[in-house]
Amino acid sequence: MPTATDFNPSPVFFKKPTARCSAAPVFRKLCSSVPPRSVSLSSSSAHLSGQKFLKLLKINSSSPCPHCGKPKPLPWKPHDKKKIAPCHIKLNTGMNRLGVDARDLLELFSLVQENPYLKLEGFYSHYASADSDPVLTGQQWADFSAIQTHGLLRHMDNSAGLLSRPDSASDMVRPGIAVYGISPLPKFQKELRPALSWKSRITFIREVSKGATLSYGATFRAPRRLRVATVAVGYGDGLFRSLSNRGQVLVQGRLCPIVGRVTMDQILIDISQVSPVVEETEVVLIGQQQGKTLLASDMARDANTIPYEIWCHITDRVPKLYLHHG
Ligand SMILES: Cc1ncc(COP(=O)(O)O)c(C=O)c1O
Repeated sequence: MPTATDFNPSPVFFKKPTARCSAAPVFRKLCSSVPPRSVSLSSSSAHLSGQKFLKLLKINSSSPCPHCGKPKPLPWKPHDKKKIAPCHIKLNTGMNRLGVDARDLLELFSLVQENPYLKLEGFYSHYASADSDPVLTGQQWADFSAIQTHGLLRHMDNSAGLLSRPDSASDMVRPGIAVYGISPLPKFQKELRPALSWKSRITFIREVSKGATLSYGATFRAPRRLRVATVAVGYGDGLFRSLSNRGQVLVQGRLCPIVGRVTMDQILIDISQVSPVVEETEVVLIGQQQGKTLLASDMARDANTIPYEIWCHITDRVPKLYLHHG
């Protein structure tokens, strides 16, 4: 039985009346001044919709669970029998993770219709590769759009679907990564504004001579005299250790490489190319600084992962600021 964690808290937006349902209005400016080691996520109606959506999913049910596989009597035990839970049926069109297969759809439809505690509002499905496989995506859409929705809502678009297939005739969309202002398709990145920034500060600065080694394991050896800054962030904050000798950060709008191994609470960066700075100077791990931007996707590329994992890794000890009108 799927648990609540199987739900993706992806906000749902009504696609009409905004023709392309551009997510642009929901992205707000990055915050400019935050305390050390902080993450900020600009909030918006989109974020609230996400919360509302989750609430909506949980309403009335002791065990919110998407129905998957074969239709069977629905295990629906409402806390309050006067309440009726709105629900959407998920059709499996090729992701093969959740959802009912097309051949079982009618049966599930009847079961939902018969359940007095459920009110069927719509149908949905999920693209498996909308960012990389137009053929499979087109086939999934064809299979989904072939179903009779009896005038109810239907939705399928994730971020990649929304950006690359603006004309697909859905009633709602479910962008995830695009709400953070990151495009799964690089060609659309310029249309989005990154909403999340992650910042810290320099805590210590020293000059090291040519040949000096840095951090645990002495994996970095200075090729010449360098100015090195210690920054208050490490894998204890969720910074991938695989960024050792690979990642980069911004100081005064200039890219500075992470040198040596990422440690639990600190990293070392080479600030030799930056004009002299003092301790407490802001360091941007993700975000904007003096017109220069580091995207979560840049960090993900350096860490050999995807932006979702970068965000999910940021730990609770990092203060998070949500800017409602940032
Ligand atoms: C069912 C469902 N809808 C929408 C999304 C959002 O996807 P994306 O972040 O690619 O926009 C996800 C993400 O995993 C999902 O599982």
